[in-house]
Amino acid sequence: MEPTARWATEDMILVENLEHAYGDFKAVDGISFSVKKGEIFSFLGPNGAGKSTAINVLITLLPLQKGKAMIAGYDVTRNPQQVRESIGIVFQDITLDREMTVWEMLEFHGRLYNMPVKERRERIGELLKLVQLESKRDEFAKKLSGGMKRRLEIARGLMTRPLVLFLDEPTIGLDPQTRMRMWEYIKGVNREGTTIFLTTHYMDEADQLSDRISIIDHGKIVVTGTSWELKNTLGHDVIYLETDNNVRAQTLLENFPAIRAIKPKTKGFNLIVTEDGTKVLPGIIDHLRAAQIEITTINLKKPSMDDVFVFYTGKEIRDEDQTPARARFMLSGRR
Ligand SMILES: Nc1ncnc2c1ncn2[C@@H]1O[C@H](COP(=O)(O)OP(=O)(O)OP(=O)(O)O)[C@@H](O)[C@H]1O
Ligand SMILES: [Mg+2]
Repeated sequence: MEPTARWATEDMILVENLEHAYGDFKAVDGISFSVKKGEIFSFLGPNGAGKSTAINVLITLLPLQKGKAMIAGYDVTRNPQQVRESIGIVFQDITLDREMTVWEMLEFHGRLYNMPVKERRERIGELLKLVQLESKRDEFAKKLSGGMKRRLEIARGLMTRPLVLFLDEPTIGLDPQTRMRMWEYIKGVNREGTTIFLTTHYMDEADQLSDRISIIDHGKIVVTGTSWELKNTLGHDVIYLETDNNVRAQTLLENFPAIRAIKPKTKGFNLIVTEDGTKVLPGIIDHLRAAQIEITTINLKKPSMDDVFVFYTGKEIRDEDQTPARARFMLSGRR
């Protein structure tokens, strides 16, 4: 069957004003974004942000209620079968059938997708090597450790070498070493031509793995950009201070020039500054000293993904005046 609409653009994922509600509750509240062929794109968001709901609509597991979603040029509502044939999926919750062995799981999956026997067998061999489960090929899935199950789940997602691979929290619950190895696998699959969409609540995962990131909170995309862009739009530097009166110090700095946001930390607070920190810092020190506040620790650094995340989703940030910058950035995120 011919696709009803094949997109001339390089967009592998195109989502416009997507909404999904459970009863009255809008878990996904009007999101729009696109992912180009060959990109690794992440949804970074806290628990309950709507990441899995969005992914489940895109993979045709949940019905599209409102808006538009195209995967590999196919409309999820009109051509769900073609969408399914174009994608691979690694679910957040482990879905492995426990009554099968590792090898049988992959074999079954390949047959499900009508892979020729030779290709199927070769791929299984490759993948077992890739996720380091060769020695477990005849083990029942239920006997694997959590991390091994995760790796098997990932191998299964890669069986069909899809155009677009959806990974919902791919490294959740894995140890740091395995997580990093997983990132390398994912990058390798991407290099071979697969476009990747992943969700995560790990800052470092989004930061190190993705070409572009959308921060999602309460069902809405708050900001989109490359890691570099996100950190740069936030501000120039982050100044960390500890003083003998943090509460008073923060109040005193509230309207200080070049301070865009103040973020309390356990023992001190962060100042996000819009100019070179080394130039702003002397004025800040003088201002606090004049008020008899003693500074015990000073630290100057570039904004991290964590700073970006807190800035765009955190409640304690005074960001009322940042709306134009945000809106501008969201537009620039969709190229
Ligand atoms: N089947 C459902 N019925 C009702 N509410 C649901 C259902 N699934 C999810 N929700 C709610 O929708 C919101 C978004 O959930 P979702 O699973 O999409 O978030 P998430 O970003 O994937 O979170 P996590 O990081 O915990 O995986 C949450 O408030 C959740 O409680
Ligand atoms: Mg989820």
